[in-house]
Amino acid sequence: MKAICITSRPSPGELDKFVELKDLSMPEPGKNEIRIKVIASAINIDDVHLAEGTMFGGLSLGPKPSQSKPYIPGIDVAGIIDAVGQGVQSLKVGQEVYGICNTIKGQGSWAEYCITKSNNVAVKPKVWNFREAAACASSGSVVVSMVKAAKNVANKKCLVIGASGGIGTLCVQALKQKKARIWGVCSQRNVEIVQKLGAERVIDYTKGPFSEQIQDLDEQVDIVFDLVGGKELERDAFAVLASTGTFVTIVGPNKYVGEKNIGVIGALSSFAYVGWRMLWTRTRTGPNYVFTGAATPDFANINTLLVVSGSKPIIDTDVSLTREEISAAINRVTSHRTVGKVIVNVG
Ligand SMILES: NC(=O)c1ccc[n+]([C@@H]2O[C@H](COP(=O)([O-])OP(=O)(O)OC[C@H]3O[C@@H](n4cnc5c(N)ncnc54)[C@H](OP(=O)(O)O)[C@@H]3O)[C@@H](O)[C@H]2O)c1
Repeated sequence: MKAICITSRPSPGELDKFVELKDLSMPEPGKNEIRIKVIASAINIDDVHLAEGTMFGGLSLGPKPSQSKPYIPGIDVAGIIDAVGQGVQSLKVGQEVYGICNTIKGQGSWAEYCITKSNNVAVKPKVWNFREAAACASSGSVVVSMVKAAKNVANKKCLVIGASGGIGTLCVQALKQKKARIWGVCSQRNVEIVQKLGAERVIDYTKGPFSEQIQDLDEQVDIVFDLVGGKELERDAFAVLASTGTFVTIVGPNKYVGEKNIGVIGALSSFAYVGWRMLWTRTRTGPNYVFTGAATPDFANINTLLVVSGSKPIIDTDVSLTREEISAAINRVTSHRTVGKVIVNVG
């Protein structure tokens, strides 16, 4: 099968120069695994971080890529089951599915076929085509975890930082379906799209900190969803939050975490900071700090929150499984300027 892979670990910011299109042997599903003929995959910022060994800024997870064991990136997948391993009961060959792959092991979906555990996929919702399903697998699960962490969002004023990104555009739609009042933060060029998705007000962060732009502080923000990260944004968020409010971050104290290698100590001190903030803010009067994310897919809640409500992911770019197009798309994703998701059309 053809696959985009790496055979050595790139330095941060160098993945685009390391990816190769190779003919690799067809993977065989093991116990409780399925093989998927990939129709669509996605390029996420975290695919880049995993491949470059900078997950959470400094964690090099999984085996090092080598000539004998190439690493195939790509967490999201949508496609057709092509083979099932021993013990798989609930799924069968020919079913259309979407879900996530085991990228930590380097068995990703930037390939014609991929292997994953059967519980990492679900039947593809009919209302989404393969591209849309691939766009919503991991990002949809993250949005579910953020909305759950915020508890009750109905009629609450929710500020989404990074509202125009791959996760942000889904988050705004999920909040709209939950009847939240949404304020988005992005740059001027994306104001219209965020408004169309359901935001009542959009703040352009290039004009200065959003806390300075929000004049009507008598109407404070109930929940901030942070999809960009960094202590500066956190300070800004706490300045606009009501004392009973909640700060929900999926990134933490380092802005664009993963684009620099901060080492294992740096990553551990970020975790310590997050743990301390979660504890400290709970023991005092004032807004709570919550870090959340999704390690496994939450298909049932994706269904309730996004599928049933008719939400559709925004697609930034479509690329094919060629070295040139994937390489350019990696550069686009690492620029932090994408509007929605970047999709790899394989099948
Ligand atoms: N915790 C978890 O489980 C988990 C899982 C997945 C991802 N993540 C993290 O979530 C973050 C977001 O991922 P994503 O895929 O949504 O990112 P993305 O698609 O790359 O986000 C790009 C968008 O962010 C906006 N943006 C960039 N800088 C901004 C700023 N300073 N203020 C406001 N908006 C800004 C950009 O808008 P403009 O072009 O208008 O500037 C652009 O539309 C990443 O850091 C990723 O590592 C966490």
